[in-house]
Amino acid sequence: MKVLVIAASKHGATREIGAAIAEELAGAGVEAEQAEPGEVASLEGYDAVVLGSAVYMTQWMENARNFMAHHGQELRSLPLWAFSVGLSGVPVGAVQDPRRIGPHLLAINPIDHQTFKGRLELANLSLRERSIARLGNAPEGDFREWDKIRDWARQIASDLAEHLPAD
Ligand SMILES: Cc1cc2nc3c(=O)[nH]c(=O)nc-3n(C[C@H](O)[C@H](O)[C@H](O)COP(=O)(O)O)c2cc1C
Repeated sequence: MKVLVIAASKHGATREIGAAIAEELAGAGVEAEQAEPGEVASLEGYDAVVLGSAVYMTQWMENARNFMAHHGQELRSLPLWAFSVGLSGVPVGAVQDPRRIGPHLLAINPIDHQTFKGRLELANLSLRERSIARLGNAPEGDFREWDKIRDWARQIASDLAEHLPAD
């Protein structure tokens, strides 16, 4: 059983979440690989996919959206879990709320979609990004909830079998 964890990340926080998910899957006895969307030419040979992206300006990153567009058919044919990584403390339903990404995921119909808090470090941002973050009063810091992330990965590992085609 082989799972591909695909994480779209600009400043590294989501990539590290993808790595933790892959590590947790491996710890649960599932063969897991990690990649960026641009590195994946085909999903052949994988039994399931975990696909996630950082949220910027209310949307998944462009490489993740392109990946969904180009691999939609393959994604719909495999058990799929999705996650979005966004700001901490955004009120539910506000325009920047990463949960609002949900409707975009309907086209690929994941078994589950989770939202995780990410990391915002102004010093690592471009001037433009920094002014957007300041305008939005975004809280600075690393808000990633590793226990929640790792619990979710373990849940995927234990749910996998029921979503695989019977031999
Ligand atoms: C310019 C900018 C815009 C952002 N827009 C959103 C947003 O609309 N919703 C949200 O939840 N988080 C938003 N964020 C927060 C990022 O999603 C968060 O910092 C995330 O951890 C970045 O992940 P990465 O390090 O993998 O790129 C934004 C951050 C920046 C710098």
